[in-house]
Amino acid sequence: MKINGIPYRSIWVSPEDRHAICIFDQTKFPFAVDILTLRDKHAVADAILTMKTRGAPLIGAAGAWGLALSLRTDPGNEAMEESASMLAGTRPTAVNLRWAIDRMLEKLRPVKPEDRYEAARAEAALICDEDVMQNEAIGRNGFDLIKDILKNRPSGKQINILTHCNAGWIATVDWGTALAPIYMAADSGVNVHVWVDETRPRNQGASLTAWELGKHGVPHTVIADNAGGHLMQHGLVDLVIVGTDRVTRTGDVANKIGTYLKALAAKDNNVPFWVALPSTTIDWNIRDGIKEIPIEERSASEVSHIAGMDADGVFRTVRLMPEGSKAANPAFDVTPAHLVTGLITERGCCAASEEGLLSLFPERS
Ligand code: MRU
Repeated sequence: MKINGIPYRSIWVSPEDRHAICIFDQTKFPFAVDILTLRDKHAVADAILTMKTRGAPLIGAAGAWGLALSLRTDPGNEAMEESASMLAGTRPTAVNLRWAIDRMLEKLRPVKPEDRYEAARAEAALICDEDVMQNEAIGRNGFDLIKDILKNRPSGKQINILTHCNAGWIATVDWGTALAPIYMAADSGVNVHVWVDETRPRNQGASLTAWELGKHGVPHTVIADNAGGHLMQHGLVDLVIVGTDRVTRTGDVANKIGTYLKALAAKDNNVPFWVALPSTTIDWNIRDGIKEIPIEERSASEVSHIAGMDADGVFRTVRLMPEGSKAANPAFDVTPAHLVTGLITERGCCAASEEGLLSLFPERS
């Protein structure tokens, strides 16, 4: 996608040094577009841990590149396995990270150590390219859903879509998952408006989704996380589309904390609740999302404090709570499959169920 007319992906090989990769520092959005150059696995691991780079598909791509860079200095078996576990352990909920590292290891284990670095670079680049193609296909499939909703409406009528967190192009290598259909609809002239949940505590909606949509010229309104149910009760939401960090083979969906409450409100108000994902987000080994998906617990300081820019243009972090109060910060929740209208994948849309997923991915039966 473009920033000020210049096309970017969210991760790329440095044009100055082929042994380094570049990412955006997402902790600086929307106030600055800072590009970071990462030269080794430690820098990549730190960028994932501190959420300079984030979003399920993107941390998979970053992990793959982190492993590739590690093989330049030590391509031996022991070092490769150690680097792989270190990178895979940086964030627990998004299965894309583990998936990408496993795919890299499967490719690289049979390769001679001296050939591993180049083989790893090629595989990491392929993971990135495939992510772009999958998300573009998700965009087309999700746009078909939007067209279905619009079929029975007067032409030009606005469609209101609510989304949570950031599942846009900067959460993937390009296009995004939940936002890909919205970009395609907007580009085709559909009158689309997006309700953007601010997404406390880190505010990925307010800071990232709003920034992306604004750069692409998509009309949007940021709302407090608790406003969605009210808007649904008043007929102001036609459709919810969110991304996900892990989907079980039975269709349970882990996504940013607060997604479950939106799904409950959507069910109560007959608002379709769709989840967009590349197949790299499906964990075919688990069935019960609530029991089996590990939920990342992040620092309490993300709840007790908030960061932003003051009126003088100075970036500040301020405390919100009394000093003695405790804070807890589970970063994701699980929406059970029965609350999900359906899944939008690169192979098409399906019910959030084992049958639904297997109808699109029969090789997994
Ligand atoms: O903690 P984050 O910002 O990495 O969480 C991101 C999300 O929850 C996204 O909705 C999810 O990764 C889907 S990204 C296309």
